Amino acid sequence: MPRVAILISGGGSNMLRLVEDMQAGGYATPVLVASNDPGAGGLAKAAALGVATAAVDHKLFGKDRAAFEAELLKPILSAEPDVLCLAGFMRVLTPEFVTRFAGRMLNIHPSLLPKYPGLHTHARALEADDAEAGCTVHEVTPVLDDGPILGQGRVPVLAGDTPETLAARVLTVEHRLYPAVLRRYVAGDRSPVLL
Ligand code: GAR
Repeated sequence: MPRVAILISGGGSNMLRLVEDMQAGGYATPVLVASNDPGAGGLAKAAALGVATAAVDHKLFGKDRAAFEAELLKPILSAEPDVLCLAGFMRVLTPEFVTRFAGRMLNIHPSLLPKYPGLHTHARALEADDAEAGCTVHEVTPVLDDGPILGQGRVPVLAGDTPETLAARVLTVEHRLYPAVLRRYVAGDRSPVLL
């Protein structure tokens, strides 16, 4: 059974959907949820579902990304994951870390990539007067928010939308998209999921 570790930074709603889908579908085992923030709300939620958790506070390492990642790597390697899912993980990973998990690390990003890599995606979509917005699951490469696209979910932008209302609408599609992509991914199917 494929083993999946998930990295989070916050509430972890995408992580929860992944864990619930793996547990319900029996197609993979969630072996670890790790966070760069010991206060991340998702850690307790993961533990409540019986998943091992770990936290490595990036603030303790200042600007030394390599030292932070060396510490983060310990629980990850102990968990022996086949696939690593970034789910609202808000630290940029070094090329060394990414290369170690080449071809087995996924990320969900709240825009229709290649549009709007980086932060403030919903505000940027509104500023550009886009008719639609959405989310993307892609394989992680050393280039931020780049890499082969494995799925996208689209939603309309509605009159009166704010970055918050648009983010909430996109998040509901994220929750369907990420588990659908993971199911295909662990089965070796790289054809994109389009929602
Ligand atoms: C999600 O919208 C995810 O796409 C985004 O953070 C949110 C996390 O929510 N990720 C990024 O912006 C990555 N650059 P969650 O903790 O409830 O899953």
